[in-house]
Order: sequence, then structure tokens, then C-alpha cells
Amino acid sequence: MIKRVAAAVVGLGVLGGGGFLAYAWYPSIAPITPPQPSSFSPDKIRRGALVAAAGYCSECHTRQDLGGGPDLAGDYKMETPFGDLFSSNITPDPETGIGTWSEEAFRRAMWKGVDREGTQLYPAFPFDHFTQMTAEDISDLYAFIMTRPAVHLKPRDNTIPFPINIRLIGQGAWKLLYFTPGRYKPNPQKDAEWNRGAYLAEGASHCSSCHTPRDFMGAEKQSAKYDGAVIDGWIAPPLNAHNPTPTAWTEDELFAYLRNGVAPLHGPAGGPMSPVPHTFLSQLPASDVHAIAHYFADLDHAAERQSGDAAAVTTAMQRSGTDLVGPTVDPDAKLYQGACGACHYNSGKGPVLGRPELALNNALWLDEPNNLFMVMLHGLTAEEGQSHVAMPSFYTALDDHDMARIAAYLRRTRTNRPAWKDLEKKAAEARATLKTPPVNASR
Ligand code: HEC
Ligand code: HEC
Ligand code: HEC
Repeated sequence: MIKRVAAAVVGLGVLGGGGFLAYAWYPSIAPITPPQPSSFSPDKIRRGALVAAAGYCSECHTRQDLGGGPDLAGDYKMETPFGDLFSSNITPDPETGIGTWSEEAFRRAMWKGVDREGTQLYPAFPFDHFTQMTAEDISDLYAFIMTRPAVHLKPRDNTIPFPINIRLIGQGAWKLLYFTPGRYKPNPQKDAEWNRGAYLAEGASHCSSCHTPRDFMGAEKQSAKYDGAVIDGWIAPPLNAHNPTPTAWTEDELFAYLRNGVAPLHGPAGGPMSPVPHTFLSQLPASDVHAIAHYFADLDHAAERQSGDAAAVTTAMQRSGTDLVGPTVDPDAKLYQGACGACHYNSGKGPVLGRPELALNNALWLDEPNNLFMVMLHGLTAEEGQSHVAMPSFYTALDDHDMARIAAYLRRTRTNRPAWKDLEKKAAEARATLKTPPVNASR
């Protein structure tokens, strides 16, 4: 998955006043001889592996285009409005990786976003979240990273032009304006599980980096925390009380989704969300995933909303059932039934796992149709959502006009939300985010 990052995540900074250079300048930390793997205890390395999983390090530090690359060796491409940014090699190779970094240098990078030599790093590296991690977690993570195979690989050069590439000024200014360094502070009003969940979600797992909208400088809008945002053409839905799906995101629904990639009522984790459960959170102890679920169930007020779930499921089943009654004259209903209805059909009391009830799925309820179009265009592979269950891509089988008709039809018949506007144009925009037809495209 190639991430597109907002303009200023590469730091289109404004210059600060006096004292700015003193703020933005960091000394170099002396290089070391790469540590012997045997200097770290197996327990410490194991704990570090879990921290790396919680922080998706290999997602952004492993090349995915050009046929892929070795784990953690960097060169993962992130597209920005100014040019492409390539992630660093963080294997312990002394020349092209971070083999000569002491633990102190590594910790400073995680907490402050500065490399060993003192150069400011772009916040596409989510140090604005990693700054909340404890010294102990970072020490374990260091042990894990330093005991991975060293890979000699120099990432491609960034194509971000002058003067935006002057890191001292752009990054320094961005940080001065937006960055609050500091460890996670437990909330004494909440229980230990909530605080564990918040620590993971806000720190290592940086959920808000996708689920919170960013301002024109690319900083997360703290006033709209977890209000939902667009990432790579998909909408990462609101995770607070603004979540529009008709059933509540309870602790159980959240746990199932974050652990297995599919929630019984809400359906599968697709697109950029898919690796979060499948590749990463599934490695964590179940208690940690429960803690994250506990934290978000509180943020979205599930306890107050949950009582409406049974009625919402009944309504959804009735709405979907209308397709099946009588001879269909509505041409949009016919189109939908021909393309989608064979699989997206639920009878009985509630949805069946592996056959998401569209009337309950975020794709139909969000303010914009992005996720519905993205699912139609990409399909869902057997690795996404529920394991071994797939949906074909309709990239070639449906044109923009027909995708728009299906979207309008589902919104009209399955929800009580206002009709989406300019659907055909938005279908074309969604299609344009795919450079080539997916391999699973039907016909
Ligand atoms: C969302 C993508 C993303 C994630 C997740 C991510 N990184 Fe990075 N990281 C980057 C990018 C991009 C850079 C390069 C930034 C730059 O060039 O200024 C980077 C740079 C770094 C650097 C500086 C390396 C150098 O040579 O300057 C370190 C260290 C690092 N990351 C460690 C980690 C660790 C450890 C994790 C997991 C806990 C992690 N990163 C997760 C995107 C990411
Ligand atoms: C790389 C970006 C990214 C990260 C990181 C991320 N998400 Fe998501 N998330 C998404 C996208 C995109 C979707 C929509 C997926 C879909 O509809 O299939 C999503 C969907 C969800 C949903 C379903 C919401 C709904 O109404 O259907 C939940 C719950 C969720 N994410 C929770 C989390 C949590 C908790 C974390 C951190 C542990 C997290 N996400 C991290 C991008 C992300
Ligand atoms: C061959 C069967 C099949 C057909 C045909 C099909 N789907 Fe699906 N669809 C599925 C399955 C299976 C899933 C769940 C996949 C998973 O859990 O990984 C799914 C999931 C979805 C989701 C939920 C995505 C998410 O990320 O939450 C949406 C929305 C969707 N389909 C819409 C459609 C539309 C619209 C059509 C018609 C254009 C269609 N589907 C046709 C099998 C199908």
C-alpha cells in the first residue's frame, strides 16, 4: 500500500523568530560499533518484537513497489504533493542502516524525530506519536531491531524539491508549531485497562494518524480528534461518537475487528486498515487488543448507544429484504442484484460472518462514498477482512456510471442519510487512484 501524505507532513514550514535555530539544531551522537546480538537477552528481544508489531515498523520500512524488498530495509514509497519520500533502512547495516546508532541515538529519533547526526526527520515518520512511548519499550524495540539481519540497501533519493527539502528550517518550524514531545501520562480517572489501551493507541499504534483529519500544514487537528480522515482514497471512519454506522462499536465488536479483521455486525477491515489487525495486532497478547478495544468503546460512547443495536439490525434486515420481494422493476435494483446480490444476501435474523450486511457497513453510511467505490474497484483479497473469504474486483466489470447507480441505490434503500452528490465524478476519482487494474478483476 503506497501512502499519500499531506503537504506539510514533509514540512512546508514558516520561519519562527529568534531562538529558532537553537530550537531546531541538535548535535550529532557519536557512532558506535554495531552491538553483538548476544548482548541482548532473548526475553528482551521477544518483548521488542511485540513493540515493533504494535508500531507497524515493517509496514513503512519495507519496500512494496518494484516487487517488494527485505524486511525493515526501507525504501517504502510515500507520495506527497511535492514529490516522493522513501523511508529509511532501519536494519543494523552500518553503512545504509542504523547499525552505528547507540540506544541513545535511537531513543532520540523515536522521541524527538531527529537522526543520529542531528538532522530533522519528516513527520511522515510518526515520531509525534512515538514520543509517548516509555524508555523501556524503546529499549526493548532497540534490542529487536539491532538483532535483525543487516541488509545493505540504500533507499532511493527523495524527490522533494528545494527549498522544501531544507529540513532544518521546514521540519524545525513544523515541530515548533505542532509537536509536543513527552511520554504518555495516565489518566487517573480511568482504570488500568483503559490507560493501557490509550498508551498503545496514542503511542506505538498511532491510530489517530489515519483516523484524525489534518490541517493545511499536515498536522492532526486536535479539535477534531478521531473525526475520520481520507487516506489513499479510503475514508478511515470516525472512531468517536461521530461514527455513523447504525450499530455501536462495542468492546466486543472492536476486539473482533482489531484481532481478526472482521466484526460480526460491521464487517471486514479492508484497504489500508487490513494490515493493522492481520499483520500486526494479531501478534499482540489478547489482553493488549482488549485494552485498545476498551479505550475506543469508551471514546465512541458504546455503552449509551448499544441499546439500539437490536432494532438497528432488524431495520437493516428489512431494508435489504425489500430487494427480494416481488418482480423488480427498478433498473437500479436489477443492476445491484445482478452484480452484488448473489453474495450480499442475508435472510433470517442477522448478518452471517463472511457475508457483510451492507445496510450495517460503514461504506453506505459515511458522508462520502469513497469506501464503497474502493471496495468495488479493489475487491477484497483472501488476506483482507475475514481470512480466506474474498470479493472480486469490479474494476473492469462496472464502469463509473454503473458504480454510481449502485451507490445511489444502496444509499437510498439501505440508509436514512442524504443522497451522495456527483457520484459519477467521485467514481472516476476513486478509479484514478488505482494505476493498474487489480489482478483479481473479474472479466
Ligand atoms: C507511517 C510510516 C512509518 C511507520 C509506521 C514507521 N516509520 Fe520509521 N520512518 C518513516 C519514514 C518515512 C522515515 C524517513 C523520514 C525522513 O527521511 O525524514 C522514517 C525514519 C525512521 C528512523 C530514522 C532512520 C534514519 O536513518 O534516519 C527510525 C530510527 C525509524 N524510522 C524507526 C521506526 C520504528 C522503530 C518504527 C516502528 C515502531 C517505525 N519507524 C515506524 C516512516 C514510518
Ligand atoms: C494506515 C491507516 C490506518 C491506521 C494506522 C488505522 N486505521 Fe483504522 N481504518 C483505516 C481505514 C482506511 C478504515 C476503513 C476500512 C474499511 O472500511 O474496510 C479503517 C477502519 C477502522 C474501523 C472500522 C470503522 C467503521 O465504522 O467501520 C475501526 C474500528 C478502526 N479502523 C480502528 C482502528 C484502530 C483502533 C487503530 C489503531 C490500533 C487503527 N484503526 C489504525 C485506516 C487506518
Ligand atoms: C462473489 C461474492 C461477492 C460479490 C459478487 C460481491 N461481494 Fe461484496 N463482499 C463479499 C465478501 C465475501 C465480503 C467480505 C470479505 C471479507 O470479509 O474479507 C464483501 C464485502 C463487501 C463490503 C464491505 C467492505 C468493507 O471493507 O467493509 C462492501 C461494501 C461490499 N462487499 C460491496 C459490494 C458491492 C457493491 C458489490 C456489487 C458491485 C459486491 N460487494 C459484490 C462478496 C461479494
